[in-house]
Amino acid sequence: MIFESNALSVDWLEPGIAQMTFDAEGSVNKFDRNTLTHFHNALNVLHDLPDLKGLVVASAKGAFIVGADITEFLTLFAEPESVLQHWLEETNLIFNKLEDLPVPTIAAINGYALGGGCEAILACDLRVADSSARIGLPETKLGLIPGFGGTVRLPRVIGADNALEWITTGKEHRPDAALQVGAIDAVVAPDALSSAAVAMLKRAITGEIDWQSRRARKQAPLTLSKIEAAMSFTTAKGMVAMKAGPHYPAPHAAVALIEQVSGQGRAEALQGEHAAFIKLAKTDVATALIGLFLNDQYVKGKAKKATKLAKPVEQAAVLGAGIMGGGIAYQSAVKGTPVVMKDIAQPALDLGLNEAAKLLGKQVERGRLKPDGMAKVLNNIVPSLDYAPVAHADVVVEAVVENPKVKGIVLAEVEGVVAEDAVLASNTSTISIDLLAQSLKRPENFCGMHFFNPVHRMPLVEVIRGAKTSDETVAKVVAYAAKMGKTPIVVNDCPGFFVNRVLFPYFAGFSLLLKEGADFQQIDKVMSKQFGWPMGPAYLLDVVGIDTAHHCLDVMAAGFPERMGKMENDPVDLMFKADRYGQKNGKGFFQYAPDRKGKPKKTVDEAALAMLTDAYGAPKSFDAETIIARTMVPMINETVRCLEEGIVASPAEADMALLYGIGFPAFRGGIFRYLDTIGLDRFVAMADQYAHLGPLYQVTDKLREMAAQGARFYQGQ
Ligand SMILES: NC(=O)c1ccc[n+]([C@@H]2O[C@H](COP(=O)([O-])OP(=O)(O)OC[C@H]3O[C@@H](n4cnc5c(N)ncnc54)[C@H](O)[C@@H]3O)[C@@H](O)[C@H]2O)c1
Repeated sequence: MIFESNALSVDWLEPGIAQMTFDAEGSVNKFDRNTLTHFHNALNVLHDLPDLKGLVVASAKGAFIVGADITEFLTLFAEPESVLQHWLEETNLIFNKLEDLPVPTIAAINGYALGGGCEAILACDLRVADSSARIGLPETKLGLIPGFGGTVRLPRVIGADNALEWITTGKEHRPDAALQVGAIDAVVAPDALSSAAVAMLKRAITGEIDWQSRRARKQAPLTLSKIEAAMSFTTAKGMVAMKAGPHYPAPHAAVALIEQVSGQGRAEALQGEHAAFIKLAKTDVATALIGLFLNDQYVKGKAKKATKLAKPVEQAAVLGAGIMGGGIAYQSAVKGTPVVMKDIAQPALDLGLNEAAKLLGKQVERGRLKPDGMAKVLNNIVPSLDYAPVAHADVVVEAVVENPKVKGIVLAEVEGVVAEDAVLASNTSTISIDLLAQSLKRPENFCGMHFFNPVHRMPLVEVIRGAKTSDETVAKVVAYAAKMGKTPIVVNDCPGFFVNRVLFPYFAGFSLLLKEGADFQQIDKVMSKQFGWPMGPAYLLDVVGIDTAHHCLDVMAAGFPERMGKMENDPVDLMFKADRYGQKNGKGFFQYAPDRKGKPKKTVDEAALAMLTDAYGAPKSFDAETIIARTMVPMINETVRCLEEGIVASPAEADMALLYGIGFPAFRGGIFRYLDTIGLDRFVAMADQYAHLGPLYQVTDKLREMAAQGARFYQGQ
């Protein structure tokens, strides 16, 4: 043994050829401080090792190296810039040491080589991957750029154009794609990885592969003519402006940096990388995106625990083959859980199956699914007009019409058919789970399972725990949602549950503005372009359905009369009474007609404008700050209440639910992160300015107290 530690070791494979094997104590290899220290020490030993002729860098785990340790980031990035500068310099010294070994080096890559893992393979002279490899630099997705030499080495290995694409999109690449651009030198079957790496390394040792000149190229300025450079960087800037937009500074910074250092050698170019990295690490956007990554891990970890506890769902059933039932059946089948889809109407069953077939057809078209795979999924959806095949289901998801009486009857019927320990879940969007539980003999086996439309695309499932719901039931439904590829978040029962409960106050803020003559098109523009929502509130109401929203408003008014009581002259009611239901009937705040692909295209509708002018006067312009405050303060206050009342268990889960359920702007990190970023005291001052608008604008006493104490929701992050 040449070197041994708890993160990696180095040993001889054969005379002259050593292998450095990453094998951390945890489940994956990552560049945390401990690993970096051992990596450094091992390289020091190798530099002075007589008889060394070549080095293989490999992993003993199912993945190569997944990246830097993101859990260390937020505390590290809160340190003064000089500390960050030191960290980057020290770490790059290590990567340079690998690159500067006096012998040829090869990375043998299996599984993930992302971020720092990818930067480590780039520091080697040669790279061979097996078919399981996934390679990429995802740092821009966290609001950062690669910091261990990735922005310097990758363009010099695969060319500026490819590197700009890899780095600005942050995507991971399959080995064949990586081979095509020259990021790796060969792809082999997993069992041939080690021998292929040694064979290629030997060709370098004998001089057949000119590793020295490959190495020199990585350390020299980029070889780009002026015209080529102008083309590459202009194109990349255009792409980034279009795809990333103005709220995400990292991809823009990456292009600017790669351009800036293109004429420089390694040492100078790395200095540029450090400076750009530090600047980004200190942005609110990086904090928000890293926070979301950590929250996501936390939420997924909870689902994993539930999956370990719960008996797996072998057979599912869905009641109702409508928009939601059809989507749920499809999602269940596609992720491998067979499902019975029951409805009372044959046409509904046909429609549900057709929808599933259409979605699958698209996947076959895109080459993501083979035709026999499609048949297998479709066979996993069994349509039925009676309950008989439902009897064997471990979980039944009820998705019939939103009517408490009908749901009560249907739930009681199905409870009589299924096994004693089967779980029932309702996909209601508004009806209290405790109310529905009253129809059941075994309310402990019942909870809510609130999907979002369209089911196959929206990542969130709210799992609603009723007063009598057992832990086993929650665990089973959480596990089933996770198996469906969704992110389940457990919330307690209340009108609107978590997501709709906080969304409707936002709509109320919007309605109040409209009643004062605000221009909904201006509001939509401010809330989407400036605040960053995927769409503004008027468009969102049209997509949700004005009739649905109208109904929800009634439910919320009954549930929270003191804050959400029916608003007189509500623009949503106005639209509803004029039969303007939004996208579903082609007219709401906007009008819709199918485009060439059959997707509804939104255009301005003079009739809607005239109707609103009639009701509230000619449209007035409000400044953006007012629009944001007046729509967001009610949503934020309600979110804080949900946390205080234990509807949602933690700021992390609330922020993930908002991101995955309604597309809260990721660069803001969620409502609790947003509060921490702007400062609780500033938020309280902002809300107080609008206190006269009613109880939705009143901050809670506890939040006021937290603000006075200078507290935060995310501790130490
Ligand atoms: N559409 C959404 O955006 C959305 C989002 C989340 C939750 N939800 C909820 O999902 C549920 C279903 O909504 P949808 O939009 O799919 O409605 P939908 O009208 O498209 O579908 C309802 C289906 O239920 C069937 N049905 C009625 N009575 C039945 C019975 N006794 N047994 C079996 N099937 C019966 C109907 O034939 C119809 O096919 C509702 O509770 C709704 O609130 C809807």
